Amino acid sequence: MRLKSLEKAEIGDILGKPVYDDKCQLLLAKDVKLSLTYIDRLKKANIQCVYIDDELSEGLESEMLVPDELKIRSVSAVKNVFKDLSERKGSNYNIKSIDTIKNVVDEMMKIIYDNPSTLYQMTELMGTDMYTYNHSAEVAVLSMLVAKSMKLSDTFIQKIGVGAMLHDLGKMQIPGEILNKVAKLELEEERMMKEHVQYGYDMLKDNDFISPISRQIVLLHHEKLNGSGYPYRLSGEQIPIHVRIVTMCDIFNAISSNRAYKSRLNADEALEIIRTEAVYELDRDIYYHLLKVVNIYPVGTIVQLSNGEFGIVVKENHEAQTRPVVQIIRDKKRAETVDLMDYLTVFISKTIEL
Ligand SMILES: [Fe+2]
Repeated sequence: MRLKSLEKAEIGDILGKPVYDDKCQLLLAKDVKLSLTYIDRLKKANIQCVYIDDELSEGLESEMLVPDELKIRSVSAVKNVFKDLSERKGSNYNIKSIDTIKNVVDEMMKIIYDNPSTLYQMTELMGTDMYTYNHSAEVAVLSMLVAKSMKLSDTFIQKIGVGAMLHDLGKMQIPGEILNKVAKLELEEERMMKEHVQYGYDMLKDNDFISPISRQIVLLHHEKLNGSGYPYRLSGEQIPIHVRIVTMCDIFNAISSNRAYKSRLNADEALEIIRTEAVYELDRDIYYHLLKVVNIYPVGTIVQLSNGEFGIVVKENHEAQTRPVVQIIRDKKRAETVDLMDYLTVFISKTIEL
């Protein structure tokens, strides 16, 4: 199984994973053979990538972090809580929907603790209409993994997970034209967009069921270490550690998904952008933990090697992530297997799509 962008998907390709629509309902099942009608249906639902099973990726299974079913439930929990809270004024909140967020976070905690070697991997299961909810769920998983790598306590990690799930809650109060605008925002639109942190905080501030740690994440997740962020232009130590973690994971996920850039970037490219562009704005120590928990070259990824050859990742290397085991591709078929740990002069130059 491997990830393929919808642009590259062809008639006859077999789906390796089910695809869901914006109501978390099944759009196409696993093992469905793509037809022109199906491809059109996926395009209409704004699906960017699909997992396919083909000869090249036969027998290759990536180690998944969160089961798809839990992922879908968490996205739907975020959606419900966002809708509930945005429809209610004052402190008359629907506590039940917040409970579902906590339950989903608890389930994620259990998975992370039961499988100590699990890594973060973006999963493409839903259309971009679900962006905000999908993004929230992914930032939560990633933040919890980073927090665990930093050896923070589990009660703290739980509060970070809840805060990350809710971090963009205030976006529900931003007009859709601004929220979904693809072109660069005008100054006034940007000012309105920045209000989402205060809106979100106001929606939660009287809610005793949400820890102050989670609420702080909602209010401060756009602050930057060099004081260039908002709403308070805090700097350095003024920004608490739990906020810094979510800020880093928020930016990483936004860069690697297709919203901020024209096309989806691979984990290695996204990590490189964060390293070079945000070195003064983000916490360097947290960046190293991010590097440890992101699955940079998941099984099924097609890569170009520094010697010019192409290969497909057949086994991840969790100790040295940039040196997985690859199988060389010749004439669109898998040839000899190369463990990059044995060939230290050869490295992965980039990931590509076939
Ligand atoms: Fe935000």
